[in-house]
Amino acid sequence: MKTLKLIPLLFLLMLVISCGGNEKQAEVPEQNKAELRKAAADFMSELKGILMNQVKTNGFASAVKVCSDTARVLTSNFGMQRGIFIKRVSFKNRNKNDYPDEFESKVIKQFEQMKEEGKLDKTTEYFEVVKEGEFKYLRYVKPIIVEAPCLNCHGSSDVIPKEVKEILSKKYPDDKATGYVVGDLRGAVSVKKLIK
Ligand code: HEC
Repeated sequence: MKTLKLIPLLFLLMLVISCGGNEKQAEVPEQNKAELRKAAADFMSELKGILMNQVKTNGFASAVKVCSDTARVLTSNFGMQRGIFIKRVSFKNRNKNDYPDEFESKVIKQFEQMKEEGKLDKTTEYFEVVKEGEFKYLRYVKPIIVEAPCLNCHGSSDVIPKEVKEILSKKYPDDKATGYVVGDLRGAVSVKKLIK
């Protein structure tokens, strides 16, 4: 049993050693990895900051309006400033443009599987170098987990305040992003960068 447990460790060690300075490193550049990881974290905290500020000063109903417009502007500006593509995606999307593409779907399904097995945590993330036509991208996907304040706009019908529901149903008639509880996998942040 003991040796069996050591095998993955040894494998990891070999991987770390073999990544030290040969072409493996070129495959997934560490610098780009760190950059995308940071971009996703900065983006999420910026978005959350704006949202929570709005909730504090004007309440949830007004935050919905701000969120729906500001979130999209912030998302595209953020990406442009850093020379990356960034978005939030979910199978149960509120905005119709937030449905995951094929690659994102594959990764979110893995996250869902991990969640079921109790293996999804704050450190969970996914990197892959992906070829699209003649271009090569580093892609990064990070899970988004539901926290208590999210329930005001993503919880079950009896949790979401009436005025919020009214705005949501007008603005998003096909809204699928409700019925969540704290700890659920809401979706993911997806980041993509052109690499050589
Ligand atoms: C004040 C209401 C409100 C709160 C609170 C809120 N959201 Fe949202 N959320 C929205 C709206 C509105 C959209 C759609 C934005 C758009 O049109 O781009 C959205 C979209 C999203 C998306 C993009 C995917 C989709 O469904 O379109 C994710 C992911 C998300 N929210 C996660 C969260 C998480 C996690 C929290 C808690 C930290 C949270 N939201 C809190 C209103 C809210």
